[in-house]
Order: sequence, then C-alpha cells, then structure tokens
Amino acid sequence: MTFDETYRAAFGFTDPALDVGRVLREGSPAAELAVKIPLRMMNRHGLIAGSTGTGKTRTLQLIAEDLSRNGVPVFLADVKGDLAGMCVQGESNERLNARRVHPAEAFPVEFFSLTGNRGIQLRATVSSFGPVLLGKVLDLTDVQQSVLAMVFKYCDDRRMPLLDFDDLRDVLNYLVTDGKDDLKQYGGMSAATVGVLVRKMVELEQQGAAKFFGEPELDINDLMRAVPTQNGIRGIVNILSLADVQDKPRLYSTFLMWLLGQFYFKMPEAGDPDKPKLVFFFDEAHQLFDDASSALVEHIEQVARLIRSKGIGVFFITQTPKDVDEDVLAQLGNRVQHAIRAFTPKDAKNIKATASTFPPSEHVDVPKSLTSLGIGEALVSVLDPKGVPTPVAPAQVLAPSSWMSAIDDAQYQRVISASTLNAKYSTAINRESAHEILQAKLAKSAEAEPPQPSEGDDFDWRQSAPAARSTSRRKSTTLSTSGARRSSRSTAERVFESAARGVANQVGHEAVRALKRGLLGMLKF
Ligand SMILES: Nc1ncnc2c1ncn2[C@@H]1O[C@H](COP(=O)(O)OP(=O)(O)OP(=O)(O)O)[C@@H](O)[C@H]1O
Ligand SMILES: [Mg+2]
Repeated sequence: MTFDETYRAAFGFTDPALDVGRVLREGSPAAELAVKIPLRMMNRHGLIAGSTGTGKTRTLQLIAEDLSRNGVPVFLADVKGDLAGMCVQGESNERLNARRVHPAEAFPVEFFSLTGNRGIQLRATVSSFGPVLLGKVLDLTDVQQSVLAMVFKYCDDRRMPLLDFDDLRDVLNYLVTDGKDDLKQYGGMSAATVGVLVRKMVELEQQGAAKFFGEPELDINDLMRAVPTQNGIRGIVNILSLADVQDKPRLYSTFLMWLLGQFYFKMPEAGDPDKPKLVFFFDEAHQLFDDASSALVEHIEQVARLIRSKGIGVFFITQTPKDVDEDVLAQLGNRVQHAIRAFTPKDAKNIKATASTFPPSEHVDVPKSLTSLGIGEALVSVLDPKGVPTPVAPAQVLAPSSWMSAIDDAQYQRVISASTLNAKYSTAINRESAHEILQAKLAKSAEAEPPQPSEGDDFDWRQSAPAARSTSRRKSTTLSTSGARRSSRSTAERVFESAARGVANQVGHEAVRALKRGLLGMLKF
C-alpha cells in the first residue's frame, strides 16, 4: 500500500472518534488524512510521552477537550498549573485556527486540590485509604508497614472507623499504653516503631496533608457529570491543581491510586461501552512508579487492568515510556509519542528502547522520526474500532480550543466560588470515630468499672446498623481542626461516657462496611 492508502485505511473508520491530528506527509500535515482515536477504545488506556517542551500537555488538553465535547467527563492532574486555562476560551489567531477543527472555546471546569489551595478541598478517610497506600505516602519500611497493617486490622475488627490523623494517632498511642493487652493477639508492636509512625504523620501534616484525611470524603459521582453550555452538552473537566504540592508527589500519586480504586469498587461493570464513563490523565506518571514496592506496582497493574471493564480510561503522561512499569505499559493501547531530544549517550539508548516498543513500520523510520519531530508533532499508534493497533502515523497534533497556559488566582476563585460542589466539600465534618471510641473506653476504665467486653464483641452490628450513612452523622458537627478537637477533650469524658452505647450504634453502619478490604487494602463497599 502507498503512504496515503495506508493511513486512509487505518483511520478511515466512521465510528465516533476523537480527532487528534493530521498525518505528516513529507513533513507537512495532509488535510485529508486524519489521525483519530475511536471513542470506544479510550478505556483501553494510553500513553503520552516525549521530552520536555515537545507538546505532551497540549496533546492531553486536546484529547480532554474532545472527550468533553462528546459528553465524557475527565479528571486531569495539573502538575504545572498550565492546564487551568481550559476554563478560558483559547486565543483565536490565524496560525492556531488553521490548526483547529473546532473554534476557540472555554470548557466547564471544576478545580480540586489536596491542600485546599486553588481548588475544592479533596478528602478521603484514613480507613478507606487503607494501610498499603498510607504506608506509601508515609514512606514506611516493611516493618513499619506491617505494624500499620496490624493497626488497621485491629480497628477493622473492633469496628472503629479511622477518619482522620487524630484517630490514627490516638489508636497508636492507645496500643502502646492502655491497650497493650488488646494487641497481644496481633503480635504486638514496639513503642519505637509507633514513635516513627507518629513522627512521619506529623511530617506529612506539616506539608498540608492533614486537611486531606477526613470527611466529607469525595463522592466519585461528583466527577461524573456532563452539563449544558452555550456550545452544547459538555463533560466536566475536573482539574486537580498540583502546582503547590509538587514537592509531595507521594500524596498525589497515592491519592490517584485511591481514586482509581474508588471507581473500581463503586462503578458497575460496563462491558464495552460506546464511550468511556470517565478518562483519567495522570501527568508526571513516573512518580507513581518511583520507589514503589513490587506489591504496589502489581496493584497498579491490576487496577489498570480491571478498571477498563468499568468504562474508565487511564492515560499516563511521562517523558519516556521506560518510566512506566513494563506490565502496565503492555496494557496501554493508545500511544502518542512526541520527540525525544538526544543529548547524551543515555538519551540515544532511550531512543532505541522507545523505538523498539513500536511495531515495524513500512512508511516511518521510527528512530529517525523520534529525534526529528517538531514541537506539537508525534508518532501515533492507537487501537482501531476492532481493537487492532493502527500502523504508526507521524502526525501534527491539532491545536486545543481553550487557553494554553496558566490563569491567575482571581480566575481560580471565580470558578471555585461558582461551583455547586464548593458548599458540599468546603467544611470538614467530624463525626464519631476511633478517637471518640477510645475516649469512651478510657473514661470507663477510669471509673474503675469491672472489665467489660469491648464494643465490637457484644454488639450485633448488622442488626443495629442505621439505614443510611447520613443518619449516622452527629447532629452538631464541629470543625476538625486539631485545635478545636483538642480543646474539647477536657469535656470529652462527659460527652463520651453518655455516648458510649450511642457511639456504637452510630458507627455501626460504617463498621459493617469496614470489614472488607480489597485491592490495595482499601475499604470495599
Ligand atoms: N498541539 C499544539 N498546538 C499548538 N501549540 C502547541 C501544541 N503542542 C505544543 N505546542 C506549543 O509548544 C509548547 C510546549 O508544549 P507543552 O507545554 O505541551 O510541552 P510538554 O511536553 O508538556 O512540556 P513539559 O514536559 O515541560 O511539561 C506549548 O506551550 C505550545 O506553544
Ligand atoms: Mg507539560
């Protein structure tokens, strides 16, 4: 087949697809030769790679825009702040318009953040995060990790929800003091290890992570919306603002693992849907695999494999495919490879390695192209509607319709204050959890009552569980800043004593759920 025939055959399908670019014929984009990704293949995952400044983020932006146009919500990690411009209409000039299929447009954006800066505060409970991911955020050794796993097991067995760091700290303190005997059957733990765990928690808190652990926990349904705009229905572009937490990659990467897990646990099987339910774009993906234990990598591989059948797509964005674990790489059906700039012998090796991940091509000299592609150009190989890889196409990527750069704080605030989700998530709630249960226990023993069986042993959780989670919340909620919580401790006994039974009742529903942990040690619902 000739050059034109090859690409006409490869991308000539009529199934709904995302328009990515035009085939480069002798260095110039051929208007009649489109390069597309079938919408139904977006849950077969993807990789966007290339050296710095070669166009990865703009490719991500372009694909995200076209998903939104198709009513598909996306979740983007905005590591440098340069995706925030998606909420603003792009510049309209001759050069850019010539490279666009769609006119300039602003997209409906929600900003989220792990610290509450430049986005709606995201939260997850310590319980639902689970010991594996928490161990990764805290950078624990194997021994410390196994102690943490034991603490989770102890709390799960006793139906004590760990909502925030105060809960976890209290449980740790309790288990090396008054609760020593409780722990014997779990193998015990050393006060020194607990000391290290607590210190690592304090370090993480000082970096702003304290706000992240707690309630209200993010409801994934809030990320799954499509809304009417003046241009038609658009999937929401959910942007995780990370520019201020670049020095805390662990929190970011583990949060995304948790989020993927949530989608996996909570979404029904979707088979092979015509279009994905949501697509993730995971920028700086190497952070996920940096010093990850083999167990964690295996989990990532599993989540990526299993989440596909839920209709969720995951795109990794990174400088070289080598940054992504081999088993995960093997699952990425759609590839956009930007240029690799070779300066050192190591770079040359990288080109060879990258070229070897593409199938042999009749029309493209892959290693040569990899070094000669211009900015915003790429080698593209995707799955066609039948799931068969297309031949490698050299392409010029289209220009995004929205603004291609950062925005100022005032613009962030405008979007955040206009969001309907802001009210739901802006205030932390603090309901009964391990902290209160332990307080109640200590209060009881202080009264020198005869020893009582622990709550978990004599309580029929299943029968007593209240119907809905919302009814399990305390009526008078308080801000869960450490200060507010600590100062209320003086009155703790009075409150907790009378609440001892009530607490058991209130946490019952959560407790029944808390018994099952699945993939990654996360709570299963
Ligand atoms: N598809 C495109 N359309 C128009 N301009 C583009 C396109 N791709 C890249 N560019 C231009 O190239 C610049 C760099 O692109 P981009 O920010 O996407 O690089 P990157 O690979 O993400 O770099 P880094 O690794 O540093 O994040 C953009 O600011 C833009 O001016
Ligand atoms: Mg970039």
